[in-house]
Amino acid sequence: MSKPQLFMATLFAVLITPALQAQERGAALVEEKVCFGCHQMAAVSIGPPWQAIAARHAPRKDVMLDVLASRIMHGGGGNWGLVPMVPNQRVNEEEAKILAAWVLAQAPQAGQ
Ligand code: HEC
Repeated sequence: MSKPQLFMATLFAVLITPALQAQERGAALVEEKVCFGCHQMAAVSIGPPWQAIAARHAPRKDVMLDVLASRIMHGGGGNWGLVPMVPNQRVNEEEAKILAAWVLAQAPQAGQ
C-alpha cells in the first residue's frame, strides 16, 4: 500500500467506521426494541414516520439528539398528534442516544 492509500485507509478506519457501526447498531436496536410497532420509515403509523421526524429536526440535529434520546426513554406527546409515545422502559441512555442518532439520519435524500 502506498503512503496516501495507507493514510486514506487509516482515515476511513478511524473516522468512518465508528459512524457506520453506530448506524448499524441503531438499525439493529430499532428492530430489537420493537420501535417499528408504532413507527415506519415513510408512512404514518401510530407514531410519525422516521423520515418525517428526521426532516423536522434536521436544522437542530445537535440539540435534538439529547431531546429525542430523552423522549425515547421517558415518552413524550403533543409534538405530532394526539397520541403520546409511551416510555420505552427497556431502553437505557446509551441505547436511546444511538436510537436518536439513527432516527435523525433517516431524512429522505434530495431527489427521493
Ligand atoms: C406505543 C407506540 C410507540 C412505540 C412502541 C414507540 N413510539 Fe416513538 N412515538 C410514538 C408516538 C405516538 C409519537 C408522537 C408523539 C408526539 O406527538 O409527540 C412518537 C414519537 C417519536 C419520536 C419523535 C419525538 C419528537 O418530539 O419529534 C421519536 C424520535 C421516536 N418516537 C422514537 C421511538 C423509538 C426509537 C422507539 C423504540 C425504542 C419508539 N419511538 C417506540 C409512538 C411509539
